[in-house]
Amino acid sequence: KPIVLSGCQPSGQLTIGNYMGALKQWVAMQQDYDCLYMLVDLHAITVRQEAKALHEATLDGLALYLACGIDPQQSTLFIQSQVPEHAQLAWVLNCYTQMGELNRMTQFKDKSARNINNINAGLYTYPILMAADILLYQADQVPVGDDQKQHLELARDVATRFNNIYGPSFQIPEPYIPEFGARIMSLQDPTKKMSKSDDNPNNFVGLLEEPKKISKKIKKAVTDSDEQARIYFDPQEKAGVSNLLTLLSGATGKSIAELVPDYEGKMYGHLKTDVADAVVALLEPIQTRFRELRNDRAELDRVMKEGADKASERAAITLKKVYEAVGFIPRP
Ligand code: TYM
Repeated sequence: KPIVLSGCQPSGQLTIGNYMGALKQWVAMQQDYDCLYMLVDLHAITVRQEAKALHEATLDGLALYLACGIDPQQSTLFIQSQVPEHAQLAWVLNCYTQMGELNRMTQFKDKSARNINNINAGLYTYPILMAADILLYQADQVPVGDDQKQHLELARDVATRFNNIYGPSFQIPEPYIPEFGARIMSLQDPTKKMSKSDDNPNNFVGLLEEPKKISKKIKKAVTDSDEQARIYFDPQEKAGVSNLLTLLSGATGKSIAELVPDYEGKMYGHLKTDVADAVVALLEPIQTRFRELRNDRAELDRVMKEGADKASERAAITLKKVYEAVGFIPRP
């Protein structure tokens, strides 16, 4: 089976954007691929985190992965910091990545512009750690949202460079980006990406938020002031409406082409109510399952241990190959 790897940062609460762009694909891929899914806590500390909050968010993330349908029997589910090979390979890859390549990363530019008090070296080399995550497992496919495309391109470049110097060492990974849902937009400003770290909580829907609150946020979403108020899919001209259609499609499983005719002659309010109901219907059972799992620390520990053991065993194979390739002496 082809190998799949992906991860989310446990910084704050995962959003419906993370679900549509990533988690939904992850769950669907489990049947046909050999999947590894992680919570990237090493990545999370590139932005200052309160220790307790990071700890809790990581456990929340784990329970949420399970609640969304990631099956630890079928897939390898783990916490990045529990598999030290990630940091180890990242160091090596640091030395095979040019600063010029990192300077081009748009996410670094955005994040450093927004957070001028903590432009740390980790934030800068973050895409190299992500490359290590992927290359350690020789992943073939990496299911991500649109915003991670450039990071994946870097991982491919670094892998290719390393292979050219030392001979075949890494599989060159492919991005796996869904046609719809790869870029869920902010509810109040549908020209920018929905983000869990947004200052305005009305911009995102957290997967663990109370259904009433979710419904309210969606009903308040910005559409447009188009006089005719027609409902159709056009992310440029109708950013807000298109975002709502994307959410509706993702939550109901119906295609956008199938949905649009239903709204002929209807008003934005109809669409919003339907989206709110569909998202709540999607999330309610996930939240119920989440609450059960989150209170079962023994089970979470068991999943973490099993996942870290499985992941580490695989990661060690690539790391050993790389260490040998560059000339390190194995510990006698
Ligand atoms: P993160 O934690 O920012 O986001 C996790 C995943 O969710 C996707 N995503 C979205 N998709 C659609 N619409 C949105 N508004 C939206 N916001 C986020 C992201 O594209 C991502 O797939 N660097 C990564 C984590 C990472 C990783 C990896 C991913 C670390 N190592 C290895 C894949 C493979 C990140 O910060 O994702």
